[in-house]
Amino acid sequence: MARLEDIVSLCKRRGFVWQGSEVYGGQAGTWDWGPLGVALKRKVMGEWWKFWVEDREDMYGVDAAIIMNPKTWVASGHTKTFSDPLVECKDCHNRFRADKLKADYSDLSDTKCPNCGKVDWTEVRAFNMMFETHVGAVQDETSVAYLRPETAQGIFTNYRNVVDTMYPDLPFGLAQMGKAFRNEISPRDFVFRSREFEQMEIEYFVDPETWEENFEKLLKDCHEFLEGVIGLPAEMVHELDVPKDELAHYSKRTIDIEFDYPVGREELMGLAYRTDFDLSNVARESGKNMEYIMKGGDKRLVPHVIEPSFGVERLVMAVLSAAYVEDEVNGEKRIVLKLPENLAPYKYCVSPLLKNKPELVAKAREVYGVLRQKYGNVTWDDSGNIGKRYRKQDEIGTPKCVVVDFDTLEDGTVTVRNRDTTGQIRVKIEEI
Ligand code: GAP
Repeated sequence: MARLEDIVSLCKRRGFVWQGSEVYGGQAGTWDWGPLGVALKRKVMGEWWKFWVEDREDMYGVDAAIIMNPKTWVASGHTKTFSDPLVECKDCHNRFRADKLKADYSDLSDTKCPNCGKVDWTEVRAFNMMFETHVGAVQDETSVAYLRPETAQGIFTNYRNVVDTMYPDLPFGLAQMGKAFRNEISPRDFVFRSREFEQMEIEYFVDPETWEENFEKLLKDCHEFLEGVIGLPAEMVHELDVPKDELAHYSKRTIDIEFDYPVGREELMGLAYRTDFDLSNVARESGKNMEYIMKGGDKRLVPHVIEPSFGVERLVMAVLSAAYVEDEVNGEKRIVLKLPENLAPYKYCVSPLLKNKPELVAKAREVYGVLRQKYGNVTWDDSGNIGKRYRKQDEIGTPKCVVVDFDTLEDGTVTVRNRDTTGQIRVKIEEI
């Protein structure tokens, strides 16, 4: 099992992820994605969109504004439920609602942490996790707005628009991906808990009588996506059926899909049955009708919702954790990212065996051009010696390295070296 510090170090060294605003000493809870990180992340997001939206007839995409009318957050309950008095144990970093620890929580010096038993608390703060901002030139309470803490609400607010323009058959889903912001009390574990992150969410609208079968189908789809498309090892993916007394107030059933991260088993994503909680809230706060009229009849209903909710960073972190391997090649230690081919930042690396031989460089450039045209994500590397290039490409997860040598000039074949086995074969250029 990879250690978190090894993954963080690789990400930094090879241009995947850096601390946000590092040059100014950092901005806690934020992360900047470098060239290889953003390539990996976009591929994960692209696979998600293809699997959940493009390849299905029952899904529609939306892309709503990040700053929404503040009524959104009143309707959803965020203005209230994100405003708890929170306190954190400095020892084990668990956070608690102070009013649940003690009715009069102004003094917690006699109250033990229910997790680790220590008495070492941060100050109690009335803490709303939503980032507040002001819209327009006037900065008073009438101009307050929030950065969205989840993408889900931008879907509910567009449910009526989609029904009226696309006439979808029930059940159907709306999908959205994009940034979400939460002023987390204790961001931790690299990108796992950040203050700015990306979500990929689906709100799947169903006839309430069919919620259980749709829940099961979506759960199966989640596994198919995580294991089949993204390539996470099934044995590292686990389901946690959240006990009734721990469910969020809007949910009748939730399954957290957890992953064996280097820091332990933690939530990767959630699948929640949210009843008609959200659409009823939107109807109440907006005064608009959220009913769906079933086709071929006059049955009207407010659909119920099942929500698969993915965090992009947690998914990428799972991909990196599963891919990170340290092994030995010819007695030499190496680090290799065994990324699935569909996610690797580069599919091929092309090099001339020697960079001071113009005829090799010219031929390698030609091969590079052909492969770039064919696959797009191909990189060029003529730095250092060939061994060093392989080490570098192994670390960034490039599945194949193509090397042009003197034989290439004679017979039009190149060496193709496999990242995982380090085995090499000779292949005709046109057969790559
Ligand atoms: N709409 C439901 C919702 O937002 P959530 O469990 O709060 O539910 C869904 O968040 C997913 O978003 C999580 O399973 C996780 O993958 C991701 N996520 C939530 N908070 C995060 C944070 N602070 N940093 C990184 N990812 C986060």
